Amino acid sequence: MNNPNNRPTARLLAEAGFSLGMRVLDIGCGNGLLAREIAKLVGPHGHVLGIDLQDTALEQARSHPAEDGAAPVEYRKLDLNTETLDETFDAISCRRVLMYLPDAQATLTRLASLLEPEGFIAIQEQSRLGMPIAGQPIPMHEKAHRWIWDAVEGEGADTSIGFKLAAMLQASGLTMQELWAEAIVLDSRPESDFAPLVSIMKPRLIAAGIPETDIDELISDMPRERQVLESPILYDMAFLAIAHKPA
Ligand SMILES: C[S@@+](CC[C@H](N)C(=O)[O-])C[C@H]1O[C@@H](n2cnc3c(N)ncnc32)[C@H](O)[C@@H]1O
Repeated sequence: MNNPNNRPTARLLAEAGFSLGMRVLDIGCGNGLLAREIAKLVGPHGHVLGIDLQDTALEQARSHPAEDGAAPVEYRKLDLNTETLDETFDAISCRRVLMYLPDAQATLTRLASLLEPEGFIAIQEQSRLGMPIAGQPIPMHEKAHRWIWDAVEGEGADTSIGFKLAAMLQASGLTMQELWAEAIVLDSRPESDFAPLVSIMKPRLIAAGIPETDIDELISDMPRERQVLESPILYDMAFLAIAHKPA
């Protein structure tokens, strides 16, 4: 979890109160990184269910071997827009998913109904917010940022959802415990290399109309700009929220 993108997540997990034996639902689990982290926190007597719409993401998630001392992690295909579950959970986790849902409020309300009394939801959503900001010219990082966020917005994502979390959680009948925001900060260290994210996003960037050769060029040039950074870059803003279901 040392990647700058994961640091706010580590703090969210530490604050949220995951404990041994919990049954947890991780929505929009992608490749299962968050589900696996939570599985360590809830231990071998807990259980984590990761759900996602995409078969490829679920295949990747399932390819990770079970870890000693961690909860079993099960992955299931499910469309959060139209489907729900008939199980209840002690906790629900959600990282960078609500922004992609056409009616995030309806989904959140359905999810709240799956929580046990006193159960909680831990959410991380990212926002664009006029970034990146740096104390020196960063044309390659600016380009990568613009391409990625333009593509995400072009797909219909709500890139200001962080500002709506408090109202949405309240409308879902949940009680806010913590709400904060953290800038994702990049510096010259190798773990701040964002070129791999551009690689992951490549098919979506191509779909958004960016020529493949331009993307490849940026992926190979970005590390050079990072290696000589003299000041950190504020790259994205993560909004983090923890809310409980009343007893
Ligand atoms: C940006 S990725 C985040 C993945 C993971 N939560 C993480 O933080 O690494 C968003 C994920 O949400 C999933 N997703 C988007 N819409 C969904 C829906 N309607 N139902 C289920 N999953 C969905 C996508 O397939 C994708 O895996």
